[in-house]
Amino acid sequence: MDELNHQVLEEKPVPPPEEFSKKARVGSMAEYERQYQRSLEDPDGYWGEQAKLLDWVEPPKKILEWDLPHAKWFVGGKLNVSYNCLDRHLGKRGDKTAILWEPEEGEPVPISYRELHARVCRFANALRSLGVGAGDPVAVYLPMIPDLAVVLLACARIGAVHSVVFGGFSSVALADRIRDCNAKVLVTADGGYRRGRVVPLKATADQALESCPSVHSVVVVRRTGEPVNWKQGRDLWFHELSDKASADCPAAPFDSEHPLYILYTSGTTGKPKGVQHTSAGYLLQCAWSMQLIFDLREDDIYWCTADIGWVTGHSYIVYGPLANGATVVMYEGAPDHPAKDRFWQIVERHRVSILYTSPTAIRAFMAWGRQWVDKHDLSSLRLIGSVGEPINPAAWKWYSETVGKNRCPIVDTWWQTETGSILISPLPGATPTKPGSATKPMPGIVPRVVDLRGEPAKPGETGYLVIERPWPSMLRTIYGDDERFRREYWGRIPGVYFTGDAAQCDRDGYFWILGRVDDVIKVAGHRLSTMEIESALVSHDAVAEAAVVARPDEVKGEAVVAFVTLRANAKPSRELNEQISEHVATTIGSIARPAEVRFAQALPKTRSGKIMRRLLRELAQKGSVTGDVTSLEDLAVLEQLARTKGIEEG
Ligand code: WTA
Repeated sequence: MDELNHQVLEEKPVPPPEEFSKKARVGSMAEYERQYQRSLEDPDGYWGEQAKLLDWVEPPKKILEWDLPHAKWFVGGKLNVSYNCLDRHLGKRGDKTAILWEPEEGEPVPISYRELHARVCRFANALRSLGVGAGDPVAVYLPMIPDLAVVLLACARIGAVHSVVFGGFSSVALADRIRDCNAKVLVTADGGYRRGRVVPLKATADQALESCPSVHSVVVVRRTGEPVNWKQGRDLWFHELSDKASADCPAAPFDSEHPLYILYTSGTTGKPKGVQHTSAGYLLQCAWSMQLIFDLREDDIYWCTADIGWVTGHSYIVYGPLANGATVVMYEGAPDHPAKDRFWQIVERHRVSILYTSPTAIRAFMAWGRQWVDKHDLSSLRLIGSVGEPINPAAWKWYSETVGKNRCPIVDTWWQTETGSILISPLPGATPTKPGSATKPMPGIVPRVVDLRGEPAKPGETGYLVIERPWPSMLRTIYGDDERFRREYWGRIPGVYFTGDAAQCDRDGYFWILGRVDDVIKVAGHRLSTMEIESALVSHDAVAEAAVVARPDEVKGEAVVAFVTLRANAKPSRELNEQISEHVATTIGSIARPAEVRFAQALPKTRSGKIMRRLLRELAQKGSVTGDVTSLEDLAVLEQLARTKGIEEG
């Protein structure tokens, strides 16, 4: 853990702008403290009250049943998630724009609540016509187009369980995820656009499906119009199916704990985990946190720049905003297309008032220079947010000055795929902020920084971040592997939820998240597993052994460094180096492509044969190794490694 022992900044907290606080839902620390205390002293009363944010067919009989590690929230309640995101808005907001879609090229497309509702109903019926019913998994592999939101809500409407796979994943990664959940239907597109280039999603899906016998129907959205291979009897056009289907699809009530979706995320082994979320608790906490953290108002134009392929898009593009009847901007493409001011052009054009983006994006904007930002009128912005990785104070300050014009509060929001919604964040009208700290827990959330025995760390001491009590939007299990759920999240430190993050809590009770303590790395906010990359590496013919570590990267937060030993018949060369990198990109996706592949004669191991990643990390970060090396099997290995710096320098 020492390597994570950053020096936390003991800065004086800056209170939110007075103007903002005056109008905010939570306008002072006293009000925050009051809610927080109440949520701890009377959790049932607190959450029972918040539950009124949703429309129930049958109200819950009991707020929580907690049999560690299994939680059931809002027991006995029944509702329909898509009804809460659509139907209930039709009276008051039928013509309000629900999704304001900004394609990479061409004119923006506004979609009203009424239209979104109709599209969802049609596609829900279309899914039914393919034999999809309540509880059935539906795999989704789509670009950032409105149909993606339609598919999610259509699944929710009929109680089907969506499993979205990020469009940047390769065929192998897609196939693994489809096989794990046994989906019978896949929804994909002929392709998507990225920086003006066509991403051939259908072709990738076709490849994946060669090893997915469970899939009997593939629904294809026409986005690019490029020719695609067509398998008669299996492949169907999205628009043809929808056109044929009735727009009448009453929202059936489902139990609070009815599964809503599975979302695969990387863990400590090569096998991705299917994080399972359920209906009422998840939706409620997304909707509730939208109100508290983004201080959402009826006339806000809210833009979350994440991809719906990740949890941020699920919770804060689809479910949270739509449950609140908000207008959400959805952008199809890259931040530098056609030029490096694309984001600011979008903010200006749509008068975006709330912007939620990632530290990697912010650092890229910093590197590109403020002239791109200054070309545009950002006066519509009133609140800006950050998510997905630690934001360094320099990037925080740049964001605050250059984008927020020292006028907009910043919410640095900490959470995970597993937590479902934001757990640690400033409330923008209340919490004084410190650049680099996610500040304080949300009401109902009890985080602690502890050692491995569960003993609390002192203020400013690094420890493991854990959460003490269950919360409504927490994952319920790992799909098909409840034992792993118990072991990885609730068994590391008995009785508490283990986040996998290192953190410090300072004297003011502010949380500083320092990064992962497990084999998860975050490259540009994308969550990757070192083990998954290692298994991709060793599946290359020339590779014998591989170890992957992260090194800090100025823009992307972390970068992948791979150490490999070659099989006897392979010789190190620049071509081979590139081939191996490319192999990782085609096996997992280009997001996992190593920044560096370093050839070694052997990997440093302990006497029991475990690869000493700590040493490799040090090597990757500093180029040399210090510290205790007595447990090394072979010191020469390490010396040789320290001299090796990829073939290009050797
Ligand atoms: C990291 C993304 C620091 C953390 C929503 C966590 C953060 C992992 C922050 C989850 C933040 C997320 N400050 N680190 N504000 N937000 N993280 O599942 O390491 O893709 O465990 O969910 O991202 O990543 P995931």
